[in-house]
Amino acid sequence: MNAAQTQPLPIGVFDSGVGGLTVLKALREKLPREDLVYLGDTARLPYGTKSPTSISRYACQATNHLRQQGIKLLVVACNTASAVALDVLREQMAPLPVIGVVEPGATAAVAAVSGGVHLVLATEATVRLGAYARAIAERDSTARVDELACEMLVSLAEEGWTDGDIATAIVRRYLGMLDGKGGEPDCVILGCTHFPILRDAIAACLDAKTRIVDSASTTADAASALLDELGLGNEQAGTGSLTLLATDGARRFASVGGRFLGEDLDAGDITLVDL
Ligand code: DGL
Repeated sequence: MNAAQTQPLPIGVFDSGVGGLTVLKALREKLPREDLVYLGDTARLPYGTKSPTSISRYACQATNHLRQQGIKLLVVACNTASAVALDVLREQMAPLPVIGVVEPGATAAVAAVSGGVHLVLATEATVRLGAYARAIAERDSTARVDELACEMLVSLAEEGWTDGDIATAIVRRYLGMLDGKGGEPDCVILGCTHFPILRDAIAACLDAKTRIVDSASTTADAASALLDELGLGNEQAGTGSLTLLATDGARRFASVGGRFLGEDLDAGDITLVDL
């Protein structure tokens, strides 16, 4: 075995843009020794309003780029790509292991609330595909799942209008669309990478006892468990490296992405790639 083969490979993390940095943050916390390479397909964001055909094509091209870089595990940090294209991506990447965010999100939801009513807030494409409803039903056949497409919350999060009257008014308006369709949810699933940073605004519009879950930390748990199972964990001492790739707009990636990652980013931290 030569030196290149013994070099530990990074984990690849893919999202349609910057929202997946919420998942990257959880991965860094859970797996601090792992090298991570993140690719945000900012040139083609948003995925949530596109057709399944386009979403699958974009996701395959982007993740192929990560595979060519050399990765040991792919985390699809985008809910829309996970809902629409996970099977296609698993096929394309085989034998590379692939984890999406929908299944860990469903695991978090049923751990928070058994039975009862779950409300999934997500993009149009994620809702159309019903992936969360299926994943929850597989884990808890007694649960009821409602799903609500909230496209404007994606823009709101990117704009940084995450608290105050505007944020709560828009969240209320979306939740109002459910009036007459069952009662207050027992659990709200933040089924879009952008929604964790709107958690307070969403909580302000819900009953105090409603649980709110997202898939970031459960996805990191799933990645950690899979690395252990496959014997692929990085044993090196020290903190792993972070490489940030995007398909467009390094400056905007840095200014908007910093809020999702929870730390300041500079345009110079991001490398633009052409797919
Ligand atoms: N990353 C997407 C998701 O989690 C949201 C942004 C988009 O529509 O591309 O569904």
